[in-house]
Amino acid sequence: MKFFNREKEIKEVLSVIESEPQLIYFIYGPINSGKSALIREIIRNRLDKLRYVPFLIDFRLRNIANVDNFIKSLFKVEENIKAESIKEYIKSVARFLVEGKEVIESISSIYAGVPISIPVPKEVLKGLFESKENIEKVEDVYVYIENLFSEINKYGKVPILVLDELQMLKDISLNGNRPLLKNFFQFLVGLTKVEHLAHIFCVSSDSLFIEHVYSSAELENRADYILVDDFERKEALEFIDFLTRELLKEKIVLSKKEKEKIYDFVGGKPVLLIKVINKLKIKTLDEVLSYLLQDEKAKIKMELEKFDYVKVKVLYENQEVEVKKEDVIEALRKFKNKDILKKDEVKAPVYYYLVRKNILFLDPIKEILKPQSRLTWHAINRALKDLNLVS
Ligand SMILES: Nc1ncnc2c1ncn2[C@@H]1O[C@H](COP(=O)(O)OP(=O)(O)OP(=O)(O)O)[C@@H](O)[C@H]1O
Ligand SMILES: [Mg+2]
Repeated sequence: MKFFNREKEIKEVLSVIESEPQLIYFIYGPINSGKSALIREIIRNRLDKLRYVPFLIDFRLRNIANVDNFIKSLFKVEENIKAESIKEYIKSVARFLVEGKEVIESISSIYAGVPISIPVPKEVLKGLFESKENIEKVEDVYVYIENLFSEINKYGKVPILVLDELQMLKDISLNGNRPLLKNFFQFLVGLTKVEHLAHIFCVSSDSLFIEHVYSSAELENRADYILVDDFERKEALEFIDFLTRELLKEKIVLSKKEKEKIYDFVGGKPVLLIKVINKLKIKTLDEVLSYLLQDEKAKIKMELEKFDYVKVKVLYENQEVEVKKEDVIEALRKFKNKDILKKDEVKAPVYYYLVRKNILFLDPIKEILKPQSRLTWHAINRALKDLNLVS
């Protein structure tokens, strides 16, 4: 399917890319809001390929449990490039990467014109795993990447490193209790703020992770944040038109009232709008909407029911903290007549729980909490009503 709109966000990202690398950018937003689709669209179709060399690393595609997995996920062994020494190899890779699309597509670690991992010779990767200490391994990794990026810079081009689902690294430690992420961030700060070698975009759907990053001292003044939210009303209605053309080939025509009904029900989350339009091939609009609401409501009720049988705990500040059903209900009740709360209206462990369950989205920068979608907002209110928990 073609990509729809997001011109405002595209402009914001491109304006970052056009300036000298300075900060690490975090792209965040509610689940399924279209963060990954946006960054892929920019990298594939909106970049001047003569000026930039992008790498798109998606940690969600890999199972990352330790430092070795992390290293493997960054690199791809490139057998088509031969060289006498690492130095020569780095030069050849840089030349390959900057020489244009045709050459780029002939290398195996490249997908749809974008390198999906950083090319590396077999011997170098093997050497990395032979080091005993994790800390030595990652230092070698950083030196390799830094050299490759600075070689690319020599051609007057700027590397762009996109790290999708970066939160997958959050539980990995280098040695003892030294977190890998902290060390990796230091390296990324070096590439941006210190050396200005490359643009870094970290994408995450985990808003608690974004809150953690936002409050961490080592990234203060070294990072900035770009929100990719669900579509607002106007864009959502246009997206519905776009989808009826793309998916239904205009075989079904929706009235203005029907389109508004869809938005009022599910909101502007792309994936939900796609779901609704696709289901219209076999169901009526009312059937589709009531099915989606029923499904979302059932999930919330199931979560609430668990409190009657087990102690529910959530990880908060590295400690397991018990969350009480009454507090969760109290928080959810606040959404009766509004769809946004201030973060401090809900106790932290309670919103941690609700965010972990993908019921609420936390925007740590705006300090607000809101349901993950408009559909979720309706489902919260219907669930409370079903359980006789509203006054
Ligand atoms: N602007 C758009 N035009 C067309 N399709 C879109 C657009 N934005 C998102 N989509 C579609 O919606 C789906 C979800 O988008 P995507 O995976 O990018 O969301 P995400 O925010 O990265 O999700 P997650 O929170 O799981 O990481 C994808 O199938 C994608 O193709
Ligand atoms: Mg994503």
